[in-house]
Amino acid sequence: PPNLPALKSVAPAPFGTAIKAMQIDDPDWVALARAQVCQLTPEWEMKMEYVLADGLDRPRFDRSDRIAAFAARNGMALHGHTLIWYSQGAEAFAGLSGAAFDRAFDGYVAAVAGRYRGKVRSWDVVNEPILDDGSGLRDCHWSARYGHDGYILRAFEQARAADPDAVLFLNEYNQESVPAKGIQFLKLVERLLKAGCPLQGLGLQSHLWIDIPEGAISTFMREAAQFGLPIHVSELDCTLRTENRLDLRGAGQRTALQTARVRELAEAFTALPAAQRFAFTVWGLRDTDSWYRQGDKDDGRDRPLPFDGAGRPGPMAAALAQGFA
Ligand code: G3I
Repeated sequence: PPNLPALKSVAPAPFGTAIKAMQIDDPDWVALARAQVCQLTPEWEMKMEYVLADGLDRPRFDRSDRIAAFAARNGMALHGHTLIWYSQGAEAFAGLSGAAFDRAFDGYVAAVAGRYRGKVRSWDVVNEPILDDGSGLRDCHWSARYGHDGYILRAFEQARAADPDAVLFLNEYNQESVPAKGIQFLKLVERLLKAGCPLQGLGLQSHLWIDIPEGAISTFMREAAQFGLPIHVSELDCTLRTENRLDLRGAGQRTALQTARVRELAEAFTALPAAQRFAFTVWGLRDTDSWYRQGDKDDGRDRPLPFDGAGRPGPMAAALAQGFA
């Protein structure tokens, strides 16, 4: 679609993208980001796996500091991702138990959230606590010690103490595409709020599938909005695959489905009260930046993001502009 307006200028809230530190060295990426977004989410380098790769006592902040400086230099907000999740990084806690484990857990959240106090607008304090089938909460290194709700409460309390100004989010995926998971997410939010958890925002990652039934996306958005908390569409992409198989027979029909789902998401977000429209983030700008392009499943034909490899707006960018109008 020729001369589409900049997405940050038509979005009804700050429009963001995931960022990898190495993209700061890609002038094409920088030009596109400056034109299109006003918020950034580190895709990997602010996660425990990167920060603690050299061990608990030698945290690495070089790349997250670089991203934070880039955001500040370019007048872009920074959304921290993510303090505590079930995946990637617990190895650094191996062998710790009891009070030593508590000191390490509390100390990690305090160190990272404290370091970026005044630099981040918000945090994904806890990421993806719910089992993929929605039958309950994941068992993980953290739940083993503190219980399923317990580690979440603890993480939020530590984050609150370290940064009283950041908006604190619980972030999850497939709430719209797996109804049981959506229900479990809403039940968890209700329990946390009742327990006095300083939970201030809900992250709907929105890694969409083209075979999500029409209406499911907007229905979940409305259900999530009932808590009155800010909503962050935090990781939008929409692969043209189905069942994890890259099969683009009828690519035109797949693109039409992608357009319908992305437009439904953008319309549902736009329909929220202004106070609940926190931000709308795509999980990368160009198809070639997508995590779907990491690994062997890709044959270069998927189009999960708004722009093509050359930074030209594609069908998803048009769907977003339509949905935001
Ligand atoms: O770049 C390093 C390389 O130097 C190193 O040799 C190699 C060895 O491990 O790792 C490379 O880093 C990889 C990184 O992506 C590159 O940006 C990590 O291995 C790899 O695990 C990491 O994958 C990220 C993944 O989360 C796991 O952290 C993806 O980029 C990122 O898109 C994906 O994002 C997640 C969200 O955090 C949560 N929601 C789902 C979403 C998609 O899975």
